[in-house]
Amino acid sequence: MTTIAVIGTGNMGKGISQSFAKAGYQVFLGSRNLETSQQVASQIGQSLITGVSNAEAVERATIVFLAIPYQENNQTIRGLRGALRGKIVVDISNPLNPTYDGLTTKPDYSAAESVSELLPESRVVGAFKNTLAGVFYEPYFDGGQKSTVLVVGDDEQAKAEVIKLISALPFQALDAGGLQKARTIEQMTVLILGLSMKHNYNFHAGIRVIS
Ligand SMILES: NC(=O)c1ccc[n+]([C@@H]2O[C@H](COP(=O)([O-])OP(=O)(O)OC[C@H]3O[C@@H](n4cnc5c(N)ncnc54)[C@H](OP(=O)(O)O)[C@@H]3O)[C@@H](O)[C@H]2O)c1
Repeated sequence: MTTIAVIGTGNMGKGISQSFAKAGYQVFLGSRNLETSQQVASQIGQSLITGVSNAEAVERATIVFLAIPYQENNQTIRGLRGALRGKIVVDISNPLNPTYDGLTTKPDYSAAESVSELLPESRVVGAFKNTLAGVFYEPYFDGGQKSTVLVVGDDEQAKAEVIKLISALPFQALDAGGLQKARTIEQMTVLILGLSMKHNYNFHAGIRVIS
């Protein structure tokens, strides 16, 4: 049985937790501060979400979503490295600059690759990078269209599991290739944010791959 950990109680942590709980999954919502995760879990108000410490969330889950800010040499990730050994870890981060119009990483690098280097013994997958937080609450666009979640990773089995999991939510999950593809996907978030601001989409915007 898949159990999910979400590390971080911010906008994305809340959205991901409530989406998986709505789909019937047991979610352990982790925080650096136990009181925070308990409060946030009770605010969300779904019985399948339990607020715990980051360490307990990782321990009780089979798949871990890191809903925390990108930082080089991230202390939160480093602190969980041992507990994350062998687990599927989903990085959702975008290394945005303070004005959201560029990335802080070099062009031939990505946040996903950085997380993978920090966690060499985990099975790192990238997902949800282009999904703005508000979309978790209103996932359907014009005429009931779901937006696309591009999923990347070098561990094909781990990536397939994450695609299957996200397909249980109101999203179209697509295999977008190896972890290096995160370089492009993270740049796409800059574009989507720019479009949202230029055209007043109020951060309710995403991408949909059609064929
Ligand atoms: N917001 C979006 O629309 C969006 C879209 C796609 C991807 N993302 C990515 O998703 C990640 C989370 O974004 P968010 O909007 O949820 O951010 P947020 O609202 O600022 O929340 C981030 C959470 O991460 C935890 N955290 C752990 N280590 C931290 C640290 N060193 N400094 C600050 N917080 C830390 C905190 O939870 P605790 O205090 O409970 O530990 C905090 O509430 C980011 O990497 C972002 O690039 C965001």
